[in-house]
Amino acid sequence: MEKKILVVFYSRTGTTKKIAEEISHLLQCDIEEIIDNKDRSGIKGFMTGGRDAMARNLTEIKEIIKNPGDYDIVVIGTPVWAANMTPAIRTYISNNKEKFKQVAFFCTTGGTGIDKTFLEMEVLSGKQPIATFSATARQVKTNKYDLREFIEKLK
Ligand SMILES: Cc1cc2nc3c(=O)[nH]c(=O)nc-3n(C[C@H](O)[C@H](O)[C@H](O)COP(=O)(O)O)c2cc1C
Repeated sequence: MEKKILVVFYSRTGTTKKIAEEISHLLQCDIEEIIDNKDRSGIKGFMTGGRDAMARNLTEIKEIIKNPGDYDIVVIGTPVWAANMTPAIRTYISNNKEKFKQVAFFCTTGGTGIDKTFLEMEVLSGKQPIATFSATARQVKTNKYDLREFIEKLK
């Protein structure tokens, strides 16, 4: 039977969103964007965002629409902030981890913090990901990344 998959992501400047939308398109599956109610725009948003991520602070997120418990796999994507997941994704995982059956993770980054981010997501969710994918913001911008292996593992 076809697996039911949900792609969930947070994106401040559209990089992670581009990957999330492509994954959802390739798998023909549902997608949900997590919205951080805290203003993350501009320099101030950058500074407080980095600080909140480093301190592992939770935030307030907009109410979600899709129930992750309805899906076989929840694919969770975040930008790397201060070598960690974003507060919005930390909050989503914290609020919903009991509902996850299987998880997969992806992130976009300036180039560092990938392994640590995935490890923190694994520990927080209590689930080992069945697949992971990462790309730098530059790779995303220039379309120099390959999602095929990641997608195959999810099928
Ligand atoms: C607050 C903040 C902290 C960041 N910290 C890191 C970091 O520790 N390592 C890194 O490689 N990139 C870091 N970045 C860069 C982002 O991970 C990267 O630009 C990402 O692709 C942005 O995704 P988005 O466009 O979906 O928001 C940081 C960006 C922000 C805004």
